[in-house]
Amino acid sequence: MTTPETATPPTFDTATFRHVVGHLASGVTLVTTRTPEGAFGMTASSVTSLSLDPPMMRACLNNSVPTCAAVATAGRFAVNILGQAQGHLAQQFATPSADKFAGVPMADSVLDVPVLAEALAVIECEVVEQVVAATHTIFIGRVVDADASQGAPLTYFRGGFGRFEFARDDAVYHQARQQVLERMYAPDAVLQLDDVAFSLGVDKSAAFYALTRLTADGLVRRDPDRGYVVVPFDVRTSDEAFDARCAIELGVLDMVIGRVPEPALSDVRTRFEAMAAQLDGDRFVDFDRYLDANLAYHEALVALAGSGPLVTAFAHLQIKTVMTRSFGITPVTSQDFVDAQRGIVEGLEQGDDEVAKAAVCHYTDLAKQRVREILEQTGGQL
Ligand SMILES: Cc1cc2nc3c(=O)[nH]c(=O)nc-3n(C[C@H](O)[C@H](O)[C@H](O)COP(=O)(O)O)c2cc1C
Repeated sequence: MTTPETATPPTFDTATFRHVVGHLASGVTLVTTRTPEGAFGMTASSVTSLSLDPPMMRACLNNSVPTCAAVATAGRFAVNILGQAQGHLAQQFATPSADKFAGVPMADSVLDVPVLAEALAVIECEVVEQVVAATHTIFIGRVVDADASQGAPLTYFRGGFGRFEFARDDAVYHQARQQVLERMYAPDAVLQLDDVAFSLGVDKSAAFYALTRLTADGLVRRDPDRGYVVVPFDVRTSDEAFDARCAIELGVLDMVIGRVPEPALSDVRTRFEAMAAQLDGDRFVDFDRYLDANLAYHEALVALAGSGPLVTAFAHLQIKTVMTRSFGITPVTSQDFVDAQRGIVEGLEQGDDEVAKAAVCHYTDLAKQRVREILEQTGGQL
């Protein structure tokens, strides 16, 4: 074993170490206990299972935190594993306060330690050993009771909370998205969770995940009375969005043409090239990447005006949803789209108002026309 005398000095500083260890993703728990002084609890991610037989857990708590001393005094603790919607509890229990448990529904427990009524899982332990290591105490607990409910865990990665995603769930989402895009469901149809799960051949949690992401995409919306509903899409929807984008971009060109500084010009050019690289002849290399690159390019164009309200107005157009609902149906597209958008960049670079504006209008006409063709091919609403 290394001693302080023989230890090799670290090659990094504290900030670097914090950044590097942040890459170890974990779940999030509340470690809770009770002493004659009352209930104690703190957010802790350095909790793991130690052995299966006998069932043991391990928790590392900072010596300076009141919960650490309380666990040592009580000789028992509960590990409350948080679900993905409980990020607020992780925040609440990571912030010192007189009553951390205020407003938190609690339940009875075997060891008479405070446990969350709505935790994803609860594991109650009796301390069998504790080891002080640097600033922390490692508590080793023998598991007395363990109980889990349905749901997905809250996760912690690089200083932020997130959700766990099965690779399988992602595939299910893409399948569900294709079904909506291919109009397997009528516009405004109600999507029942059971039916979606059945049609995709998956369990309800995967179907729920897919519906949640489709809602974020704007393909489905959550109606308070009817549940998940397919958002209708027709030519008017896309015409309005593309015309509004055209009006914003023409306005931006009026404001900036001939006055765009070199770094901003080259940023627009770089984004254009990134988008163009996602087209191979008349096919998308990867539609989702094309979409992101297209949005990034047009956002950069709009941002040239340096106007917050214009950037917000552009974001409200939901261009991404409109493009997903139309162009996302088929891998076939046209280089004409890239050529038209190149015209905008060239007009900007040459400081030529007419070239840039004509390109914006031409690109708008192409987009509107393409949506018509696609809706006709797929028998969609015109
Ligand atoms: C996601 C997350 C994980 C944490 N994990 C631990 C941990 O494993 N051990 C620890 O001592 N503190 C951990 N903390 C910090 C404590 O929750 C924080 O110091 C808390 O304020 C201590 O409780 P107190 O309010 O009673 O002082 C974590 C904080 C967060 C946000």
